[in-house]
Amino acid sequence: MITSQLDSQGILTLTLNDVKAPVNTLGEQMLVHFKTALTQVTEETCKGVIITSSKKDFLVGADIKAALANRSLFLELVKEFKQLYRQLETCGKPVVAAINGTVLGGGYELCLACHHRIALKNKNIKIGLPEVGLGLLPGAGGTLRLPRLIGIEKAMTPLLTGTNYSPQEALELGLVDELVEDLDTLLAKAKSWIAEHEGVEQPWDQKGYTLPGGTVDRPEIGMTLLGTSGNILKKTYGNYISPKAILNAVYEGVQLPFDQASLVEDRYFKQCVLSDAARNMMRTFFVSRQKIKARREGVDHSIQCIGIIGAGLMGSGIAYAAASKGIRVLLKDISLEKAHQGKSYTERILKKRIVKGESTASEVEGILENIQTVSTYEDFKACDLVIEAVVEERSVKGQVIQEVQQYLRKDALLASNTSTLPIAGLSTNSLQPKNFIGLHFFSPVEKMTLVEIIKAKETSLECVHRCIDFVKSLGKLPIVVRDNRGFYTSRVFSTYITEGLYCILEGVRPALLENAGEISGMPMGPLEIADAVGLDLVCHIHQQVHQDTGEEYSEVYDVVRLLVEDLDRTGKKAGKGFYEYPEEGEKYLWKEMETYFPAIIQQPSVEALKERLLIIQALETVRCLEEGIIKNIEDADVGSVLGWGFPAYTGGVISYIDTMGVATFVRKCQELQEVYGERFKPTIGLKEMAVHQVTFYPQLAEEEVSFNEE
Ligand code: NAI
Repeated sequence: MITSQLDSQGILTLTLNDVKAPVNTLGEQMLVHFKTALTQVTEETCKGVIITSSKKDFLVGADIKAALANRSLFLELVKEFKQLYRQLETCGKPVVAAINGTVLGGGYELCLACHHRIALKNKNIKIGLPEVGLGLLPGAGGTLRLPRLIGIEKAMTPLLTGTNYSPQEALELGLVDELVEDLDTLLAKAKSWIAEHEGVEQPWDQKGYTLPGGTVDRPEIGMTLLGTSGNILKKTYGNYISPKAILNAVYEGVQLPFDQASLVEDRYFKQCVLSDAARNMMRTFFVSRQKIKARREGVDHSIQCIGIIGAGLMGSGIAYAAASKGIRVLLKDISLEKAHQGKSYTERILKKRIVKGESTASEVEGILENIQTVSTYEDFKACDLVIEAVVEERSVKGQVIQEVQQYLRKDALLASNTSTLPIAGLSTNSLQPKNFIGLHFFSPVEKMTLVEIIKAKETSLECVHRCIDFVKSLGKLPIVVRDNRGFYTSRVFSTYITEGLYCILEGVRPALLENAGEISGMPMGPLEIADAVGLDLVCHIHQQVHQDTGEEYSEVYDVVRLLVEDLDRTGKKAGKGFYEYPEEGEKYLWKEMETYFPAIIQQPSVEALKERLLIIQALETVRCLEEGIIKNIEDADVGSVLGWGFPAYTGGVISYIDTMGVATFVRKCQELQEVYGERFKPTIGLKEMAVHQVTFYPQLAEEEVSFNEE
């Protein structure tokens, strides 16, 4: 796991190489080897140390799966690594991190404990402390050493955002000391640095050390920290404990001697690790995500050329995603000019990448060459897959499907990017329903990693598998769901908007509603989202459901119908909906709403509204699981946070229920049912789970451990 080699000059090279795993992580085995390696460091023959890796990655941090399985053990493990890091930096011999690959979290904390950091200049390498994104803090010295190395103000961004930096960015920030072009130079430079530095000490262990940029007594820094604290609260509404814990660990830590500060970091680390948010985030963002990623490992790459019909927002985004992965794209719209406009979208995104140093001009040229705009379907014979992304109008979609299919090869797949229309209905326009499928990308495609794959009754498994591979080849996460109106994500997400509309009908003040939505951790309040989707589209969806199923219009239809048809307020794109969107300045809630929907005197509490808005989504998800729309809880959780922005700290819709406890969830649903009606009726399955005290996820071994803040 760690091989060591002592050269004639007494330089000990420790090479990390976990032969049993694809990447090096900090686990129990690594700890054992690290201890052995440290005894070699203390031997007299050793004059200096280089730490590097023989894998593509250097060291990617803790083994999160193991950490989640037993958080108490994880705490112990990190503590031990932390002690070893301290021994390493105080060994009196120069230690250099020769960073040849990605180094994250606890891996980067090891580099911080080295006296010098040299990284390979390769834009695929990532360097950073992503702990905050998992509800944690860098507890192996990250909050101690980074501010002491680069200063408090500079350290706040990497610590609080969890950004992964390229080596160039890391150099600019001071996360690494120098960059080299190739591996030979990396080791040669490390050796020469050691040769030039004898008996080194970390700056913070030297007498008279002062923090770069000054300490918290400096008014500017005090103000920055105060501002940061306010910003954290504004952004997280206290839902996430790790950003505050990081800030506190830094603030308190920099005012103390190193070893005392280390104890402060331990305390905040423990608080984070044992929190519900950390458990939920580690599970959903790491373990479940990895599980989904690992499905059908060994992508078959059978999709080499795709056709896209409709070069609007979604079509051009999909074109970008595919072309950047080397897939040939034929892009068609109602005119060649419109198709060109779609291609320009890709060009704009790519140019931004050049400015940021993420792509070179020749790479961008290569990607753009992969996209060919076309005016007829003739060329679509070459396509392995065609995706229609025309307007959400059944007749238009039906027409393009009928038109294109006569040009397709027999084995070619045909997909719709519809966000709401049932796939089975659309596939009646197709000659080969077994090759017809839903591929629901999210907007903006270049940023959103989730893709919902919708299998209709007649869709073949081969078609599903090829689409999973295709989605994975785009570097995105596929979840497979069964066909029904709205599939999984749109169906559940729409309950958030609908519940907001019910609140308006009842006379809940719009500002209170919107605040409750945001405070719950949803990206926007329900009214703002409805405006963004387009109130005309919301209206249209209600009409479509009524037309297709004969279902009565729901009461909330009246709210949107009034705004769209009587008041001509169709949402954000029109500059007026539930909000006013002035050309200059910030949006604000439309003041006359209360004329149409008078506010009740007894307004609900924020807490009650928050819960109501989250519970309705969680309950609808359980219905989707019970109806087989979605197959497993991991897909449900990952889909909810990555698809429509269900609050990350909850770990997703199902983790939200588990955290609350199924019995409590059922009780709350029943209370809401009594007041608001059948839509809150808990399912039979949920009630049974509550009776038998079953949870969705298996209870974890250390769940019994209660956390007492020290
Ligand atoms: P858009 O309005 O930006 O683009 C639609 C494009 O289709 C336009 O460029 C239009 O000229 C073109 N088009 C219309 N009829 C056509 C025809 N007969 N042949 C070729 N091109 C034609 O719409 P957007 O937002 O890109 O949506 C497209 C589809 O993606 C819709 O089904 C929508 O529901 C779905 N979707 C939209 C999302 C969003 O956030 N906008 C998210 C996920 C799915």
